[in-house]
Amino acid sequence: MKLKQTAFTLIMTALLAMPSVIWANGEVVNVYSSRIEKLIKPAFDAFTQETGIKVEYLTAKEAELIERLTAEGKNTKADVLLTVDAGNLWLAKNKGLLQSIDSEVLSNQVPAHLRDPDGNWFGLTVRARTIVYSKDRVQPSELSTYAALGDSKWKGRLCLRTSKKVYNKSLVGTMIKSMGEDKAKAIVAGWMENEPSIEAKDSGVLKAIAAGKCDVGLVNTYYLGRELKKDPSFPVALFWANQEERGVHVNVSGGGVTQHAKHKENAIRLLEFLSSEKAQNLFADENMEYPVNPNVKPSPLIAEWWGNVFKQDPVNVASAGEYQAAAVKLMERAGYR
Ligand SMILES: [Fe+2]
Repeated sequence: MKLKQTAFTLIMTALLAMPSVIWANGEVVNVYSSRIEKLIKPAFDAFTQETGIKVEYLTAKEAELIERLTAEGKNTKADVLLTVDAGNLWLAKNKGLLQSIDSEVLSNQVPAHLRDPDGNWFGLTVRARTIVYSKDRVQPSELSTYAALGDSKWKGRLCLRTSKKVYNKSLVGTMIKSMGEDKAKAIVAGWMENEPSIEAKDSGVLKAIAAGKCDVGLVNTYYLGRELKKDPSFPVALFWANQEERGVHVNVSGGGVTQHAKHKENAIRLLEFLSSEKAQNLFADENMEYPVNPNVKPSPLIAEWWGNVFKQDPVNVASAGEYQAAAVKLMERAGYR
């Protein structure tokens, strides 16, 4: 019995170690992903099931992947780069690591403001960065815009994540693009006048509000989703900022076809699939993000918490990258650590 089991294990190990040639049609697409396995595997499996194309992937931090793609150059195995934040996607494009794709399917499935105007990358999920508040100490009627968090009534009551995080660089970068440097500067200066407590993470901002250290803050919505999933009575709620104005700041997780892709057609098919009605919920729901495809509804849980739709700032998210350096400088000058 034991011998039989060992033989079985050996055969299985050998089979698993064999390259993708044993796959149905031998087709493959190679992905470098900064999104962790748990978030990408369900959608990749569905893609393979539908197309017969096997998805090989490697996950690592985005800086590492960008470095790796740069070093590998023409010899890279990667056909697709997946990462979060338009600022990172913009950087990959700017380093010449991606190529322009002309796909009607992608143009139809991904709204224009959530993809690179030159087709080098496409948003696949939407993440909004908006206001959160203490349910015990704040009324939603007291809230309105990002700028209004600079009102003196929030002095000593505001928590922000460190300006070093790309999410905040992107927030301020898109503000510079949509309202001009002076107005963006005035907003950040207003926050600083309220002497915000600076937290290392979005989850830290939420915990600080829950613990009574501050009353309002700015986070990506899915961080609140994570807390609510653990504890539905978590005492922090979400407020959609700027709904009477340009709309709430949004960002994306997304992907692009690499400059030296060996399986370009498969890579395009994968991006088309990930933004399709079939895959969007598989891809967005696990991290409690919003689908990028306007024909797809968010998960029932998200819809119940925050609704199906909200007004998004229509500024192209590529500006998060274009204005990243300006945003960093602006935050530094305003004393935002
Ligand atoms: Fe995040």
